[in-house]
Amino acid sequence: MTDGRNSASGPCLRPWTDSGQDIAAILDAFDSDDMAAQAGEPINSDAAAGRWLAQWLEAGNQGAVAFAIDVAGRAVGHVMAGAIDRRHDTAWVSYWVAPEARGAGLASRATAALAEHCFGSLGLFRLELAYRVNNPGSAGVARNAGFRVEGLERAKLRYLDVDGNPVRYDVQTCARLSSDGPALVPPLPLAPAGTA
Ligand SMILES: CC(C)(COP(=O)(O)OP(=O)(O)OC[C@H]1O[C@@H](n2cnc3c(N)ncnc32)[C@H](O)[C@@H]1OP(=O)(O)O)[C@@H](O)C(=O)NCCC(=O)NCCS
Repeated sequence: MTDGRNSASGPCLRPWTDSGQDIAAILDAFDSDDMAAQAGEPINSDAAAGRWLAQWLEAGNQGAVAFAIDVAGRAVGHVMAGAIDRRHDTAWVSYWVAPEARGAGLASRATAALAEHCFGSLGLFRLELAYRVNNPGSAGVARNAGFRVEGLERAKLRYLDVDGNPVRYDVQTCARLSSDGPALVPPLPLAPAGTA
């Protein structure tokens, strides 16, 4: 049992907290080469993890909604909708799962749950996301969560390779509308208020 949350039930989405357990889980997750693109700075200290967390803990943040993916009381992933635009009722979705928790369908089910929350509770209409064409795992998440490919953006993103050389990547852009069909996977439950 960790931090008194969700130790008895199955995986769920729940709010992030500033507990030591969540900070430690974030540091563990970001200790992986393929996580570098998921934050604007290296997440390699309690302070950096705290800065990363702060944006999701900010009360009254109308521009984003974020959840930890919780397995047995431990945060093993993250799913969020940012850039919420109330004029058009759109948002931008992203996700990650810690290396040791991958391959179990968590990102797919978490993204499906986030979409339900965005379309239902938040009343959004269109969710967008994008992934590099060399990221088949992310493509699988998008497909499983009911997103449709809309088009290829050539050489959109630039990251450093292992030798520190810049490389540009083509990006596949996807969207799911509230009027589209359901996800291909069962959404994770959202932890009821007060239990997370
Ligand atoms: C991409 C990522 C979120 C996938 O998380 P996950 O929990 O392992 O994903 P799922 O288990 O829901 O798998 C989704 C689908 O992709 C497939 N998949 C997952 N990883 C894969 C990989 N490395 N290569 C090929 N297929 C993969 C799964 O088999 C599944 O497809 P299926 O249902 O048809 O079998 C995770 O690898 C990650 O956090 N990567 C680093 C950060 C990142 O790339 N985030 C996305 C940025 S756009």
